[in-house]
Amino acid sequence: MDIAIVSLFPEFFSSVCSTALLGRAISKGILNVTYHNPREYAHGHRKNVDNIPYGGGVGMVLSIPELDACLSSIPEKGRILLLSASGKRFTQSYAKELAQEERLTLICGRYEGVDARICELYDIEEVSIGDFIVNGGEVGAAVILESVGRLLPSFMGKLESSEEESFSKGVLEYPHYTRPASYKGYDVPEVLCSGNHGEIARFRREKQLEKTIENRKDLLQNAILSREDRAYIEQIQYPRVSGNIYIGLVHYPVLGKNKKSIAVSLTNLDIHDIARCTCTYGLGGYYITTPIQAQQELCNTIVEHWREGLGAQHNKARSKAMECVYVVDTIEEAIESLRQSTGTAPFVIATSASAIPTLSYCDVRDIAKERVILILFGTSHGLAPEVYTLVDGILPPIRYIGGYNHLSVRSAVSITIDRILGDYF
Ligand SMILES: C[S@@+](CC[C@H](N)C(=O)[O-])C[C@H]1O[C@@H](n2cnc3c(N)ncnc32)[C@H](O)[C@@H]1O
Repeated sequence: MDIAIVSLFPEFFSSVCSTALLGRAISKGILNVTYHNPREYAHGHRKNVDNIPYGGGVGMVLSIPELDACLSSIPEKGRILLLSASGKRFTQSYAKELAQEERLTLICGRYEGVDARICELYDIEEVSIGDFIVNGGEVGAAVILESVGRLLPSFMGKLESSEEESFSKGVLEYPHYTRPASYKGYDVPEVLCSGNHGEIARFRREKQLEKTIENRKDLLQNAILSREDRAYIEQIQYPRVSGNIYIGLVHYPVLGKNKKSIAVSLTNLDIHDIARCTCTYGLGGYYITTPIQAQQELCNTIVEHWREGLGAQHNKARSKAMECVYVVDTIEEAIESLRQSTGTAPFVIATSASAIPTLSYCDVRDIAKERVILILFGTSHGLAPEVYTLVDGILPPIRYIGGYNHLSVRSAVSITIDRILGDYF
């Protein structure tokens, strides 16, 4: 592969390109690196390549004529990349893509950056090596050289060495150990010395998943995960958090059409669907609050039918979902019930289609690591103002920017819970 590096400081690369595996690959001709310095195209005795920014502001800008002349002197440029903190994030899959190319040109920025018109003159991809600022693009170019170079055939001894690495399959790598088996009281995990390849593979996979959850949960969204992987992630990530979250479906006091506090009747769909959501996400339970005796009796009849009656015989899954339902008079009774069953008062959260939020979904997940939470959902036109005197926080409305956000309470419960416990982030 041919790599042309456009840099004001080509000497930066002398040790990078002569050391270890990269040095060997270059001396063997697996990688052919050439250097092109815009300063050689500068005029005047000071050979300036920078100038002050139009529009004002601090620092200088790498000017376009010298950079353009330098770039156009490279006969075959291949894909052109400009190292820039505001570029597309450089990743392992980006590196894999670049490793398929025959040639690349890497432009190293300096000062506050390069004159933006260079990206209009040439077909240039801006690429960032991470969310931080370094002094110049040379470090980034070295990163690309290292990561793309090692993916080239014959760069490394065994192809597997790069196949097993972090990011290759969307997760981070498992930890490595070598001799001695015991060091300062720290032993190598027993399973790695067992010779049982199945157990070793399982152990390593679990460590990969644990490490990815701890350090880079975002990667899991695109990772290829087996059923076992998913079960393991669920098992290590959610048990305590999800079990600490309870739903409260409020039928009084809620707002009626005329904006007065009223009591409304419950619906069969809300009983079923919210119970199913509670069960699906492994929540602690689901309180249905209504002060109307006849409504409580109706609700209990429905719940009993599915929990233990004829319904249970026909639909075991529904019977299981109904186990999490509790019918109470008031929100206060739900709070008291949780205080008695868990030993502490729950952190109470209101949801609303319009109220100003005081908490994020992430906050709720964090609070649930330590405390029991009761999330209140209003029926009719939402929770009445007096409910807000009982709450410790308010979650952001769902889709409040678009104008129309009249979801059924069942949908709102599912979306809210998924935002808090959603599979991997
Ligand atoms: C001091 S930096 C300029 C930072 C720029 N003013 C900004 O805020 O994004 C000088 C040069 O370093 C390189 N650089 C700095 N951080 C980088 C990053 N995270 N990824 C890639 N290149 C970077 C770019 O080539 C940039 O033009």
